[in-house]
Amino acid sequence: MDNQKVKKAVLPVAGYGTRFLPATKATPKEMLPIIDKPLVQYAVEEAAQIGIKDIIFITSHTKESIEKHFNRSYELEDKLITSKKNTYLEKINPDLFKDLTFTFINQEEQLGLGHAISLAKNEIQDEPFAVLLPDDLFFSEPSCMSQLLNVYNQYKSSVIAVNKIDKANIHKYGVISSKDNASPYKIDFIVEKPHAKDAPSNIAVCGRYILSSNIFEHLENVKKDDSGEIQLTDAIQSLLEKEAVMACLYEGEKYDCGSKKGFVEATIKLALNDDSLKKDITSFIREIVE
Ligand code: G1P
Repeated sequence: MDNQKVKKAVLPVAGYGTRFLPATKATPKEMLPIIDKPLVQYAVEEAAQIGIKDIIFITSHTKESIEKHFNRSYELEDKLITSKKNTYLEKINPDLFKDLTFTFINQEEQLGLGHAISLAKNEIQDEPFAVLLPDDLFFSEPSCMSQLLNVYNQYKSSVIAVNKIDKANIHKYGVISSKDNASPYKIDFIVEKPHAKDAPSNIAVCGRYILSSNIFEHLENVKKDDSGEIQLTDAIQSLLEKEAVMACLYEGEKYDCGSKKGFVEATIKLALNDDSLKKDITSFIREIVE
């Protein structure tokens, strides 16, 4: 991976979003808005901000609104111009997206995150690439992807974002272990969703990765887990037996928007970050909790 730039990102968006039913019956989970922007757009912006040019969605036929959202809508643009609402043009077609190419690959069967990533093989070829799981929303400066890119540039190896988690929640995540005492950690071992008693540490995988394209041959070789899914974590364990994989302790705030709690928290947090809402929302919260 010597000096190879990270130009492509894979975003798996084919999941059913069952935790948000009935909202997700006709609307993809990734299109649910946090304030005025769909969840998936935050991940696309984070990727674009580190210079990624190709966004590859692993999607399903039920999710065409994601494709519509990232395609230009000339009809709407014309309408906004003729009705002198030009300020909205930047909102529907942000400058940041001008150089981006969006590709949509259909995942016909839901066979897990590892399977989803494996479908991007032909698009990625032999370049290092980013993976962003849009459910995880990160707020920080520099961004989570930018923190990973720094480690990637330094070590020229795959790197995944991690954070420290209490044992009670560790069974929801991939968990790593390392002999290193501080970040970036060289990973010795990684396991998907262990029971708290078996977890090798309290350091859990968050939904941002930069991976060597060698991951594809490992994805081809890993076996399905007990639930019939191909886990990315298992392929990373197999990869790190051949080449270094680093973990970067993410500095910033993270919201799990795949859960209702995280989704609501992220909404409140973004409202409080928004100058046009902050004052009203702060007094509203004070009023209802007193
Ligand atoms: C996936 C990964 C897991 C990781 C998590 C981060 O799990 O398989 O290793 O810790 O994302 O959000 P999921 O949340 O899709 O079940």
